[in-house]
Amino acid sequence: MSKYEGVIFDLDGVITDTARYHYLAWKRLADELNIYFDEKINERLKGVSRLESLEIILERSNKKYSQEEKEYYANKKNEYYKEFIKNITPKDLLPGALEFIEELRKRGIKTAIASVSKNAFTIIENLGIGDKFDYIVDTNNIKKGKPDPEIFLNASYNIGVSPQKCIGIEDSAVGIIAIKRAGMFAVGVGNPETVKEADLILKDLTEYKKNFRITLIIKE
Ligand code: BG6
Ligand code: MG
Repeated sequence: MSKYEGVIFDLDGVITDTARYHYLAWKRLADELNIYFDEKINERLKGVSRLESLEIILERSNKKYSQEEKEYYANKKNEYYKEFIKNITPKDLLPGALEFIEELRKRGIKTAIASVSKNAFTIIENLGIGDKFDYIVDTNNIKKGKPDPEIFLNASYNIGVSPQKCIGIEDSAVGIIAIKRAGMFAVGVGNPETVKEADLILKDLTEYKKNFRITLIIKE
């Protein structure tokens, strides 16, 4: 009997490199607004919603923006972002992602996606991986974003695996906190400094094969 029976994936920055596209779209907007923005600040945007991301960018502005203006600029960023994601194909899966997901499913482990992105379904469709998951969280059913554990608990409930038997995989600091608050085993990928609170840090998903601990986890 496997110790873990479910694996819940974040999407942006875990399965595909859309975290890069989010950065480029925000950078374009920040430059237009004459607000300083760099990759270090961008680490704080990972895992947080579109409007919350804008608030972080506006911390460096002297101007006060109304709610309407904020919505206008968040929408503008999303238009830039959508230009990037419309060209996504299965070739844009990050190294090891598909192999790992297929390996899990072969072992009878349930798989889910817990992304706060409103563009998640488009990206999943373009990547051609919709049928690789037992459940994909619909953000319309989620009240609180990461670091609240709600999105991971919702996924765990819907795949029918208790949180203690789930692994969550994230590239964001808030995501790792959410996984741990949900009572799951947290795997961090991407920038090691950002995911330093994870129970296990992998360079990328190809490492599941050579990494002793994760091999043990899915074989146990
Ligand atoms: C998360 C990203 O997956 O989705 C964040 O890590 C992003 O950077 C958030 O802000 C919301 O995405 P969207 O596509 O709804 O603007
Ligand atoms: Mg992410």
